[in-house]
Amino acid sequence: MNITEDGQMKPWATGVRSPCGLGIIDGELFYSDNQGDWIGSGGVWHLKKGAWVGHPAGLRWSDLPNSPVKIKQEDVYAIVDSRRRRDANGRAIKPENVVDETPIPLYTLKEKFPALQLPAVWLPHGIQGISNSEILEIPQGNFGPFAGQVLVGDQGQSKIMRVFMEKINDEYQGASFDFRAGFQSGVLRMAWGKDGSLFVGETNRGWGSAGEASEGLQRLVWNEKTPFEMKAVRAMPDGFEIEFTQPVDRKSAEDLASYTVDSFVYKYHPVYGSPPILRESNAIKGVKVSEDGLKARLIVDNLRRYYIHELRLDGVRSTEGFYSLVHPQAFYTLNNIPTGKKLAMSEVSTRSTAVAAETSAPEKETPATGNGKTTPAKTGPKTVKVNVPSYDEVKPLLTKHTCLACHQTSKRQVGPAYTEVAKRGYTNEKIVELIHNPKPENWPDYATEMPPMPQVPKADALKIAAWINSLKK
Ligand code: HEC
Repeated sequence: MNITEDGQMKPWATGVRSPCGLGIIDGELFYSDNQGDWIGSGGVWHLKKGAWVGHPAGLRWSDLPNSPVKIKQEDVYAIVDSRRRRDANGRAIKPENVVDETPIPLYTLKEKFPALQLPAVWLPHGIQGISNSEILEIPQGNFGPFAGQVLVGDQGQSKIMRVFMEKINDEYQGASFDFRAGFQSGVLRMAWGKDGSLFVGETNRGWGSAGEASEGLQRLVWNEKTPFEMKAVRAMPDGFEIEFTQPVDRKSAEDLASYTVDSFVYKYHPVYGSPPILRESNAIKGVKVSEDGLKARLIVDNLRRYYIHELRLDGVRSTEGFYSLVHPQAFYTLNNIPTGKKLAMSEVSTRSTAVAAETSAPEKETPATGNGKTTPAKTGPKTVKVNVPSYDEVKPLLTKHTCLACHQTSKRQVGPAYTEVAKRGYTNEKIVELIHNPKPENWPDYATEMPPMPQVPKADALKIAAWINSLKK
């Protein structure tokens, strides 16, 4: 709603799900939304007048004469089944994720409904937060190289992300990065102090959150040192240009093996949340590092409009100190691919030190990995023997599949401690089933539900399960 100075209330936009932050950025209205039904992941949206931002509930009022949005709920439900069914007792049935269906990503509705406003920047659930909150522009003079960019808080993960936006074809899009984590409770509100420091208001009420405390008021102060970070990622007609806060070591930055790019998107459906879907890896064909070492431009194959492109720069180092990036990962939402001049292959480095990767690492039967212990074979037809991996072996899997966003080994966070899960006495196979299809009713005193994670390959899930069960002792 837009309330004018003389008190008139005018409808502005609709389709938000659970917005926990409004902000004026660049003189325009933006908000952040939270993953849930119809909204596959959190993100930052530009709220133009007359926009429908994706949740169909708000279309209930679209036939009122002064509604600036004209799309009807039935028109959306004609494309995506709203699955509002009831059981024999008349109770609503919660729709579950269907794994083997042809998914409908939100962007595919844009052709039919031009007023649909897609997120300027998706904040991938579990990685760039799980409950995005306030969005705030960094004023000139604050936080060094990041002035003009946007901070987004996260309640569940008690952290702050940083978002860089640019306008392509008159629409905002851009990249998100991790910025600062480790606050004592869920980050809700942020405000600038007169000295350029950031006040952060925190609570874990209603939802669990990372950190020791139930609430907090903390201050984030820049120590005047510039960290080695990606300052910005910009879309190019043939890939991406990464700008750094400090010059890069040329040898590492001209090596294609220093980079990876993957792309994916989310389902648009009445189910709570969405697994990342239609993931493909993008081949990197060349890289051009600028004279001053502050930019690297990548030629990337198979760019997909509207998809989230995940860039990892694990191999890039700074000239000074040979540091790795503090946060080597960026998520760029490619709503538009710009036109313009492409790089010529003669201008770029195509050198790669990547060793021919093993295409599929064979499952090791023997010798034993980690501590060498094997789980005692349980009775039952489906039980398979799995070597118990050590925490160091399982940690990359827990990170990759975002489990660590919500679980710790021996402490309650958003979800139960794995030591508590171990006490339930599940078989490894049962745990795999529960990862793919959680049963929130098993943990009634947890406010958040675990999202179904069918995207976790069975082999990975089995390793995680064997490790969880090894915590029993
Ligand atoms: C967004 C937060 C979140 C993420 C991400 C998450 N979990 Fe959970 N998990 C929970 C919550 C909350 C519960 C308890 C309530 C429930 O089951 O819905 C839970 C429960 C569980 C359980 C117990 C299931 C049962 O019914 O007893 C297992 C096992 C588990 N999680 C494993 C994992 C693994 C492995 C991953 C990563 C692949 C993962 N979780 C990712 C939040 C999460």
